[in-house]
Amino acid sequence: PARLPPLKDVAQFPVGTCVRSDQLADPAFARLVVEQFSQLTPEWEMKMEYIVQDDGAFRFEGPDRIAAFAHQNGLRLFGHTLVWYIHRPKAFEQLDEGRVRFVDAYRNYITAVVGRYRGQAVAWDVVNETIEDDGSGVRDSLWAERLGKEEHIALAYRFAHAADPGVPLFLNDYFLETLPKKRAAFLGLVERLLKAGVPVGGLGTQTHLIADQGPGLIKAAIADLASLGLPIHVSEMDVSIAGARGLLKDPRDLEQTQARLYAEASEAFSLLPARQRFAFTIWGARDSDSWRRKEAADDTPLLFDADGRPKAAAQAWEQGLR
Ligand code: XIL
Repeated sequence: PARLPPLKDVAQFPVGTCVRSDQLADPAFARLVVEQFSQLTPEWEMKMEYIVQDDGAFRFEGPDRIAAFAHQNGLRLFGHTLVWYIHRPKAFEQLDEGRVRFVDAYRNYITAVVGRYRGQAVAWDVVNETIEDDGSGVRDSLWAERLGKEEHIALAYRFAHAADPGVPLFLNDYFLETLPKKRAAFLGLVERLLKAGVPVGGLGTQTHLIADQGPGLIKAAIADLASLGLPIHVSEMDVSIAGARGLLKDPRDLEQTQARLYAEASEAFSLLPARQRFAFTIWGARDSDSWRRKEAADDTPLLFDADGRPKAAAQAWEQGLR
């Protein structure tokens, strides 16, 4: 399609994308983002990897710039992410004085980050990707080792809630469509946390897909996740074409499958009760902005091409809205 109404204008819910602060200096990027989207997730500058320095000091230049851009342009800001198994910051690893010091540092980090964006961040991904792919439970991590598998999760939500009681705190994970055992373990964890009074306030389903997936999986996953009654965030959707090459041979089939998956996702999301439609985020604006290009330099997983023109996938996403 040469022209299409902006995504945010046709959706009944916030439509997000991720950004890095360096992209905001590109006027074409900034224009596209402001025109199409109503929410921003920092792609990596709100992660420990960026914020926590080796000496334990925090830096906030990147996330501050994104927050300022969001504010100036009337976009919502989604905080991502406080605790991720992947991160093992030196400043935390070096804390060997025992549990109390570690808990203090953990609380201090969460309080500083959430507190800094209080009044602006509308929600947080508190714990990211914590469930094993085989559904066997919570992953190992520095946090699990030092604080306990479920306890580090409970503590993170309690500290985040204390720092900003007003915003929903999400648990976010991937492959919840294709790995039903993982999804069951994810929901099981959420139920145990809620029963224990841990303030989990929303569920994020990343929705990183490849363009070979058959119909029905996204719909089933979203409906299942919504069964607990919490707000749902489709938090990082993209559909890799490169990853499906060789699985489907005709390149046009790949693009059609991509469009069909985007339509299925927007439709499944639209079918949720309004109070559960927290936001729908696509993990990047233009194909050329996608993290998937680290794996395949020519991948085209998003809704806009490198020139910012809407693709068939964008039209399909809009058609899926009800
Ligand atoms: C990715 C970013 O896109 C990359 O630029 C970064 O280097 C690594 O993280 N799941 C998540 C996101 O929750 O934070 C990840 O983002 C993609 C997978």
